[in-house]
Amino acid sequence: MSHSVPTSEAGGLAIHRTDFVVAGSGIAGLWAALCLARHGRVALVTKAELQEGSTRYAQGGIAVALASKDGPESHLQDTLIAGAGLCDVPAVEVLTYEASQAVADLMDAGVRFDQEGGQLVLGREAAHSHRRIVHAGGDSTGAEIERALTERARASDSIDIFEEVMATRLLVVEGRCAGLDARDLAGGENLRFIARATCLATGGLGALYRRTTNPMVSTGDGIALAFRAGAMVRDMEFIQFHPTALATPGTPKFLISEAVRGEGAVLKDVNGEPFMHRYHPQRELAPRDEVARAVWNEMKKSGEAFVYLDFAPIGRDRIDGRFPGIVSELRSRGFEPHTDLVPVAPAAHYFMGGVDVDLRGATSVPGLFACGECACTGVHGANRLASNSLLEGLVFSGRAARAMLRVEPLPAKTLSVLEQMPFAPAPVAEDVYGEIREMMWDDVGIIRSEHSLNNALKNLARLNGALGTSAAPERWAMERANMILVADIIVRAALNRKESRGAHYRTDHPEQSEERLFHNLLYQDQDGNVRTSNRPVDTRRFRKPLPEEE
Ligand code: FAD
Ligand code: SIN
Repeated sequence: MSHSVPTSEAGGLAIHRTDFVVAGSGIAGLWAALCLARHGRVALVTKAELQEGSTRYAQGGIAVALASKDGPESHLQDTLIAGAGLCDVPAVEVLTYEASQAVADLMDAGVRFDQEGGQLVLGREAAHSHRRIVHAGGDSTGAEIERALTERARASDSIDIFEEVMATRLLVVEGRCAGLDARDLAGGENLRFIARATCLATGGLGALYRRTTNPMVSTGDGIALAFRAGAMVRDMEFIQFHPTALATPGTPKFLISEAVRGEGAVLKDVNGEPFMHRYHPQRELAPRDEVARAVWNEMKKSGEAFVYLDFAPIGRDRIDGRFPGIVSELRSRGFEPHTDLVPVAPAAHYFMGGVDVDLRGATSVPGLFACGECACTGVHGANRLASNSLLEGLVFSGRAARAMLRVEPLPAKTLSVLEQMPFAPAPVAEDVYGEIREMMWDDVGIIRSEHSLNNALKNLARLNGALGTSAAPERWAMERANMILVADIIVRAALNRKESRGAHYRTDHPEQSEERLFHNLLYQDQDGNVRTSNRPVDTRRFRKPLPEEE
């Protein structure tokens, strides 16, 4: 671990003064840190090893419209359709029109995508109207991205890396974020990072669910920290469930990429019969929420905890060549993908909501930025299009970094307040991990209702009542407190949205309502009361389609 030397110590608190502090070291945090490092000193704080996070497990790849008949406009339209009316169009324009430059920048940073004859190989995934997924090592895109970016970050003289250091609180002085407090989990020390701009890149919250593809670091910490600091959060009801996680015991669930269905694999019921034709004209390549609910429905019908995925239609050579990581993992678990039907079931996979940010990654708290899965830019709406999240992490972290550069240094008065301020004890909870995960899966999962959501709210009120604080907190105890808070916000948001749209399906409101084309906003006022409001979806267009696409 490379550390800057603390500039001072106050009451057992090691204080680091820096230009920028970034929490999280997935694609969003690493890219933000690397962009910032060209202009100032960056503290990169991450609660596990540098490379741990969802990014390293990504299989399918990054969506970018590079094929000859493809273009950003088509990518934009596919994103809007998947988002079920809740995408902000200007944000999707940014995502899709800035994609090819961002991917080129990533390659300049050393990421090696699969190529044939000097051209990038493009994969197909659900609800994309063209082949447009760049990937690495066949199905180990995320591992290649983490390899290249962590190497770069470690080689940078301007980035101070703090591994196993968990952000515990945002420092807000006179309404402006001026850094964060953190706990050195290995050294048992409390740390303060004072910075002119702070960036949350702490990833998603799949660990709140019994079945998830996410690593255990995905406990929604950044969202909890931002919410406690008074920041607005948006569209918290939208959790994406991936339809094809391997249905074997253990956590996290091993993902079987959508790209496998993109190459021809077929979903079958427990009798070995295909069923997707009964649910959607695009069958296996329907939007992810539709496929997840179809699988769920088939599981309910059969009473089994899985359906099957049949790899055979892909063809033997192509299975091995295109999906070496998945094939080897399946074989290590006793499945032969050439001949066996592989049991799969849905699992919590991605979080569309998050800390409300604008197109520059700025939150509602001055000086605080957010990017990657913990942020809500408006690009995913009610249901994310496959392989748009690594892209979002990349495009919007670069934008956040550029905006952070323009933040004024902290005034001397703020600096002296921060040097005196004691470390605030962090919220902690008992080990209620299993209980939260069961409750979220059963009551706030693929299918919800007012009844199930109220049940969850009641249980969360009890868990909230048992929260404590600690000046020497352990990671798991802080994570549990964050999970309780984030679960509570999700439930409130889900109760507010009285319709079914995208990944949010309510049996008591099965219809989509045109009156509800708004973003669900929640924040905590200064007295600790949770406030709700909403904002209409932004449908403005700023860019004209490129001439060749018109
Ligand atoms: P992460 O990569 O999750 O990183 C979050 C970081 O924050 C971690 O380093 C974590 O340790 C740190 N952290 C968390 N809390 C704290 C704290 N309190 N203090 C300090 N550090 C903290 N998307 C695609 O576009 N294409 C794909 O093919 C694809 N495949 C996927 C496959 C799997 C199995 C999974 C789980 C996800 C996949 N996704 C895919 C989604 C995508 O990987 C994620 O959305 C994306 O990587 C998130 O990046 P991030 O930088 O926001 O967060
Ligand atoms: C997958 O490979 O199926 C995951 C892609 C994604 O989540 O974008």
